[in-house]
Amino acid sequence: MTSPAPVHVVDHPLVQHKLTLLRKKDLSTSSFRRLLHEISMLMAYEVTRDMPTQMIEIETPLEKMQSPVIEGRKTVFVVVMRAGSGFLDGMLEVVPGARVGHIGLYRDPKTLVAVEYYFKMPHDMDERDAIVLDPMLATGNSAVAAVDRLKETRPKSIRFVSLVAAPEGVDNMQRHHPDVPIFTAAIDRELNDHGYIVPGLGDAGDRLFGTK
Ligand code: URA
Repeated sequence: MTSPAPVHVVDHPLVQHKLTLLRKKDLSTSSFRRLLHEISMLMAYEVTRDMPTQMIEIETPLEKMQSPVIEGRKTVFVVVMRAGSGFLDGMLEVVPGARVGHIGLYRDPKTLVAVEYYFKMPHDMDERDAIVLDPMLATGNSAVAAVDRLKETRPKSIRFVSLVAAPEGVDNMQRHHPDVPIFTAAIDRELNDHGYIVPGLGDAGDRLFGTK
């Protein structure tokens, strides 16, 4: 059996510093939103690090030169609603030409199983590299369901980006989707009985939108 795609823990000091601030329970909604935005920009660098480049000829004010540009690949950010949208604007600042798809899933509070309520992708998914955005990789059930559904559209590649992951969620993703690399800023200790990541940061959607 081939080993699963790697888990990249983004340990850049700026990301780690901002994540620490983000975890604090007394942080305001606006500060939470701003920090998540900043972290998502920084994580965009990591998740796009191995994008292939090609050399083109350009002319500086002084002379002609060969210089690299990203190959004509197309990216689609796939937002897992609703917390995934907190990751989107920062990513789009770094990759402004990307398209955006949305997957709406909610967790059944009793079974913790993911139920789909919305799905909208660009038409040309088979020409695109997909980057799935879901800040909390908890049980992994919604992540697995989102990627299952996404694979039906046959994107060229899939990467999964979270902010905080639980070991259980990482295992679940690697069992079901060993071909999908995971990028995260932290792998926390465990899940609690309600499926929350501990120590975690609470409900990312509620903190992002101020709904609690
Ligand atoms: N979703 C969240 O927002 N937080 C968790 O800890 C787990 C799932």
